[in-house]
Amino acid sequence: MRRSGATTFFAVLSVTLLLYITFLNSPTPRFSLGNSAVDKVSSNYSAWHECLKKNISTYEGNPDGLWGNLWRGIKLCEVIPEMKGLFIGDYPNSDETKRHIVPKMDLPSVIITLGIGHDTGAEQKLIKGLTHGSEFFGADPMHEINEDLYTKLPGKYFPFAVGEAAGLADASVLINTTYVTKTVVTVDIIYFLKQLVKRSFIDDIWIDGEGAEYGLFDHFFNGGRFDQNDITICQFNIEIHGPDMLQKKLFHDFIFRLLKDKRYAIYRPVQGHHMRLFMLNFANEECVYKYIL
Ligand SMILES: *[C@@H]1O[C@H](CO)[C@@H](O)[C@H](O)[C@H]1NC(C)=O
Ligand SMILES: *[C@@H]1O[C@H](CO)[C@@H](O)[C@H](O)[C@H]1NC(C)=O
Ligand SMILES: *[C@@H]1O[C@H](CO)[C@@H](O)[C@H](O)[C@H]1NC(C)=O
Repeated sequence: MRRSGATTFFAVLSVTLLLYITFLNSPTPRFSLGNSAVDKVSSNYSAWHECLKKNISTYEGNPDGLWGNLWRGIKLCEVIPEMKGLFIGDYPNSDETKRHIVPKMDLPSVIITLGIGHDTGAEQKLIKGLTHGSEFFGADPMHEINEDLYTKLPGKYFPFAVGEAAGLADASVLINTTYVTKTVVTVDIIYFLKQLVKRSFIDDIWIDGEGAEYGLFDHFFNGGRFDQNDITICQFNIEIHGPDMLQKKLFHDFIFRLLKDKRYAIYRPVQGHHMRLFMLNFANEECVYKYIL
């Protein structure tokens, strides 16, 4: 009796210890096991996921078809009852609208602008709705006008393009009122976020890369460069530049991989020659607490 009592005692002790160690090593130890924020929203996310998958699976293997029709599926699925608890705000500037969900709690945010384009109308509207201590970081290779506008937000301005790698690139940039092709200095996005911005939890990043966005797609994948560098992105706005055939294939692969990864949901498509999309992270504890629950 006593021996089995002792055995039981040590068995329980070992299991407790093991659970404790597992808990310590888990990536999100602040939240209790089995009751995570991500779990709480998983059935809502699944409903969205099934809706979009059902609508666009007919375009799997058909990049042209997906480019032309994805917006229909997104519009269909963003209004299902499971998505009605989201409050996606509109922040227009002079030629487009950025989307953002403001936190329910009084927490500061980190907002990144890649490509300022002589216009901080959206940032100016957003900053009014964010708590004191929120930070803006903007990069654009053309410092005229952009530096002045972004610094006034107030935000921190960086005079270069941001992309998948460091180097020189031909980019379409805004000079006065027209877009011209110019050789610009490009900084690797990981170096930019970790060494210059020095933030790894990004509330929203606005990507207007005039083509550089294609090289960033795989960064968002599960196990991609953001994961490898412990960078979390809760929301992002992305403009996908009018694609050629190869770029349509890259875009097709991007969308189907996002569906496979089950991390982001996609909303607010604007389809023209370019496409704009808004994405929200359903798979990170802190993002879900801050923006979805
Ligand atoms: C996808 O949604 C659009 C818009 O609601 C609809 O017109 C289309 O028939 C749907 N396609 C499929 C395959 O469900
Ligand atoms: C989850 O879905 C339910 C409807 O099934 C809805 O009432 C609720 O608001 C949704 N939650 C969020 C965060 O959207
Ligand atoms: C832009 O406009 C300014 C002021 O009108 C002018 O001096 C400058 O030459 C223009 N730059 C280009 C590249 O057109």
